[in-house]
Parts: sequence; structure tokens; C-alpha cells
Amino acid sequence: MLRKTTFGLFASAAAALLLAGLVPAQMPPMESPKPFMQRKLVHAQKVLEAIALEDYRGIEHHAQQLSLLSQAATWNVINTPEYLMHSREFRRAAERMRDAAKQKNLDAAALAYMQMTLKCVECHKHVRKVKTARAPLPQRRLHVGGQ
Ligand code: HEC
Repeated sequence: MLRKTTFGLFASAAAALLLAGLVPAQMPPMESPKPFMQRKLVHAQKVLEAIALEDYRGIEHHAQQLSLLSQAATWNVINTPEYLMHSREFRRAAERMRDAAKQKNLDAAALAYMQMTLKCVECHKHVRKVKTARAPLPQRRLHVGGQ
């Protein structure tokens, strides 16, 4: 009885492995940009909440996530020197925020938050400019606002 069950388990595991080998992997090589970009907003909102509530662990966590996002390959959808500069300054502001939380310095965390937020706006302005210049069709919609 036990033997049969064990064999059955092995057999189905083997069948599953076989199937997995036959079905080609559909995983994209990189995370798709839209949900990735939206995660910035989620962490930025959470970090503001943590700052407002003087929750240093929350600030540290979400600031670190923002810094990590800015280092992911999916972040670099545009490859202009200005985009790289905004990315770098964004990451530095996120890291200043994280370090301020470690030192339990709420004012420094709030200041770094504002500096980071300015980078959201500045980089999106740049992205719209680049995309407008590249877009051949007038009806093309931009994700960061504008027409
Ligand atoms: C260095 C550049 C850069 C910075 C800094 C930046 N973003 Fe973005 N963001 C982008 C790019 C590029 C896109 C994609 C634009 C597109 O596809 O048209 C984007 C798209 C988005 C989107 C739209 C996603 C969708 O639904 O399509 C949101 C929301 C967003 N960013 C939030 C933020 C927030 C919040 C911050 C700051 C905490 C931020 N971004 C900072 C470059 C940046």
C-alpha cells in the first residue's frame, strides 16, 4: 500500500518533470515595465506613510526597495545621459532617506523624501520629452501623463 503510493508519487512527479521539459518556458527575460514602474509609486506612498508616522523601520525598508528598483535592468528603459543622471540622483536620495531612518533622523528623512519626489517629476518630464520626440503618431499616449 505504502509502496504503491510512493511509486504513484514518483510517477506523477516524473510526469510533471517531463511535461515541464516539453512545454517551453514562457517566462519573459525581464519584468514588464508597467507593473515595475507602478511599484515605485507603491513604495513612495508607503515611505511617506512611514515618515508621517515616525516608523523608522518602514522608512528604511521602503527606501531600500526604491533604491533597489532604481538598480534593476527594467528601470533603464531610456538610455540618455540625462536619464542616467536622474536615476543616479534618485537612488542617492532614496539612500539618504534610508540612512536617515537608520540614524532615527526624521527631518533628514523628510528632506530626502522631498528630494526624491522632485526626481520622480524631473525624470518623467525628461521621459515625456524624449518620447514626444520619438513618437511618430500624434495619438500615441504617454504613461507618465501628457498627451
Ligand atoms: C530616472 C527616471 C525615473 C524616475 C526617477 C522615476 N520614474 Fe517613474 N517612470 C519612468 C519611466 C521611464 C516610466 C515609463 C514611461 C512610459 O512607459 O511611457 C515611468 C513610469 C511611471 C509610472 C507609470 C506606470 C504605468 O502605469 O505605466 C508611475 C506610476 C511612476 N513612474 C511612478 C514613479 C514615482 C512615484 C517615482 C518617484 C518615487 C518615479 N516614478 C521616478 C522613469 C522614472
